[in-house]
Amino acid sequence: YSTATPYTTLPSVLLLGPPGAGKTALTTLFERGPLDLPLAKTHTSQVPSAIELSINSDDPSSASYKTNLDEAGATAKKFLLVDTPGHPKLRASSLAHLNSAEPTIKSSLVSDGGAKSKIKAVVFMVDAAALADGDALPSTAEYLYDVLLTLQKRFHSRNGSRAPASMPVLVAANKLDLFTALPAALVKSNLEAELGRIRAARSKGLLDSGVGQDDLAAGEEGDWLGGDGSEKFSFAQMMEFDVDVDVIGGSVTGDGPGAEKWWKWIGERV
Ligand code: GTP
Ligand code: MG
Repeated sequence: YSTATPYTTLPSVLLLGPPGAGKTALTTLFERGPLDLPLAKTHTSQVPSAIELSINSDDPSSASYKTNLDEAGATAKKFLLVDTPGHPKLRASSLAHLNSAEPTIKSSLVSDGGAKSKIKAVVFMVDAAALADGDALPSTAEYLYDVLLTLQKRFHSRNGSRAPASMPVLVAANKLDLFTALPAALVKSNLEAELGRIRAARSKGLLDSGVGQDDLAAGEEGDWLGGDGSEKFSFAQMMEFDVDVDVIGGSVTGDGPGAEKWWKWIGERV
């Protein structure tokens, strides 16, 4: 449920993912909260935008985005949901926000005076129906690879001994209202397999370009995603870098599982 006047000190949740995944649709759904209006048509996003949301902080696990917190008299926890454009040419600035030990957003979209908002979680939304026919898998995984690698590299860019803040990542498998959509478990395994392929291809590229095996083993600047040199990639390998990945299915429109599980996931992390 959305309220007015954003504060500069609120934490943020960064919403990433390929074009057409449903990021703006989800943002609109959460913004309307208890208002049961039909979803307006979305357009391809060209700039990021942030909305302020509130979640019941007494019990985020039972919270619904449809609850009117004012009427419920509940204690509200406020945060910003930052919707970003998925177009490949517009991704660099989204990734740049994650490229520090303590990821923040400092832009005119969350404040007027250049104050910073701490990024508490990343939601990476994918179109589970598009992933079913395979064409969308390489481009979706490519973007996710860059997101996870950016989060992994924070570890090496930190100054001092303090570990960077852990970063929870939700892969939101959207459009499960469509019968052609892949279930969340298959979205997970298909993405893991494709991330593994990308990892192998990129490390081969490094070897071909003359980067030695020792440099790769040192791992610090390499593009090797995940902790160990195992053949298969799994999201669990990101735990070593305090990047905790969950894959949860849902839907924004239509007659599907809905968006409440995503809302709860977010509420437990802001
Ligand atoms: P970019 O702004 O280009 O990065 O895309 P986006 O991720 O913001 O996608 P957007 O929210 O604009 O949604 C793209 C299309 O998917 C729209 O036509 C939505 O109505 C549709 N859509 C979003 N969520 C769902 C869903 O759960 N099920 C179905 N069937 N369609 C959905
Ligand atoms: Mg959009």
